[in-house]
Amino acid sequence: MTTVDLPLLPLGRGTDLSAERGVECPGDLPAASDPELVARALAAKAALGDRVFVLGHHYQRDEVIQFADVTGDSFKLARDAAARPEAEYIVFCGVHFMAESADILTGPDQQVVLPDLAAGCSMADMARLRQVEDAWDAMTEAGVAGSVVPITYMNSSADIKAFCGRNGGAVCTSSNAEVALEWAFGQVPDAKVFFLPDQHLGRNTAVLKMGLTLDDCVVWDPHRPNGGLTVEQLRDAKMILWKGHCSVHGRFSPEVVDDLRATIPGVQILVHPECTHEVVLKADLVGSTEFIIKTIEAAPAGSSWAIGTELNLVKRLAAAHPDKRITFLDKTVCYCSTMNRIDLPHFVWAMESLVNGTVVNRIEVDPQTEHFASIALQRMLDLPGKSHKD
Ligand code: 13P
Ligand code: SF4
Repeated sequence: MTTVDLPLLPLGRGTDLSAERGVECPGDLPAASDPELVARALAAKAALGDRVFVLGHHYQRDEVIQFADVTGDSFKLARDAAARPEAEYIVFCGVHFMAESADILTGPDQQVVLPDLAAGCSMADMARLRQVEDAWDAMTEAGVAGSVVPITYMNSSADIKAFCGRNGGAVCTSSNAEVALEWAFGQVPDAKVFFLPDQHLGRNTAVLKMGLTLDDCVVWDPHRPNGGLTVEQLRDAKMILWKGHCSVHGRFSPEVVDDLRATIPGVQILVHPECTHEVVLKADLVGSTEFIIKTIEAAPAGSSWAIGTELNLVKRLAAAHPDKRITFLDKTVCYCSTMNRIDLPHFVWAMESLVNGTVVNRIEVDPQTEHFASIALQRMLDLPGKSHKD
C-alpha cells in the first residue's frame, strides 16, 4: 500500500502532532531587545542551581550556548542527559528529536524542556511512521523483511526509533554510523539495512566505510508507489536508503569545493556526513560535529580549512582559532533555521518559568513509544567496540 502524504506544513503553523515538525510556541516571551536578557538568564540559572541541567547542541546560537552546562553532538548530548539523574529539569537547547531522546534516556521524574516547540528538524519530518510502516509492509510482501535490519539516524522522531526497536533495529548517530552498520549486517544472514531518514549518511557510510558499492544501495521514495522500486531491486539491495536529507547539509556543492581548492592554497575540506556523496567524495575529511571540532583543535597553526556544516559552529570555530584560516564551505548555505529557533528570549522564558514553578514546553514521549525507542537507543549505546567514533 502507498500512502499519499500531506505536504510539509510551514513551521509554526503545523498542528500535526504525529509529526516531528515544530508547532507554535505558546510563550509570553520577553522582548528580544531587552538589554537585561543575559542577566535574567544568569539569574534564573543561579536560582535553579543543580535542579537544572542545560544541554547545548553545537549548532546553537552563541547567545544560547553560553548558558549550556555541556555542549556536544547528538550522541554526546544523549549520553550526557542520561548521566545526570539528579537534575529535575533538562533544558534542551537543540531540536525536538534530541529532546525526545533525552526524555527517553532520563528518569520518569526528570522533565525535559525544549525552549521553542517550533525547533523541529526538516530531515526528521521526512520520515513519518505511517510511511515507514507502508515501506515495511512492501518489504514483507517482497519477502525480504526477514533479512532487513532497520537503523535510524538519531535525527528522527521517537516513533521511528520505536519502529526500529520493535523490528530488531537500532539508532545511530553521525559519530557511530559505521559501528551501527557493522552490527546490523551481523544480525541475520545476508542482512540488508533499511536506513532512515538520511540517505546521505547511509550512503556515505555504506560506500566509504563499509566497502559497499553505489549499486548495493537503493533509495526508497515514500512518495512513489512501492517506494519507486521493483521487487528485484529490493531483493538485490544491501542498503535500502530512505529518501530524506538535511536541508542545510544537502546544499553544499562539489563545485564550491573545486573553487575553494583553486583559490585557497593547501585548503583542507572538512565536511559532515549529511553532505551529499559527491561533496563527501571531494572532501579530505568527513565526520560528526565532534570530529570536526577535534580536527580543528588538533590542526597546526597556519593551516587552512573549509568546513561544510552548520554556520553557527563554523563561525565559533573560526573565532576560537584565529591562528588557522577557517572558511565556511559555501556562500549560499545558511544557518539551520530550526536550531536557530532557540534564542535568548525563549531560553529566558523557559528558565524563568521553571524558577516560578511552571514547566513550559515539556517534551514527553508516550510510554509505549518510549519502551520500544529506548530498546533501539540502548542498542546504540551498547554497540560493540568504540561506539563513539570521533
Ligand atoms: P550530529 O550532532 O550527530 O553531528 O548531527 C548533526 C545534525 O545535523 C544535528 O541536527
Ligand atoms: Fe535537522 Fe539538518 Fe537542522 Fe540538523 S542541521 S536539525 S539535520 S535540518
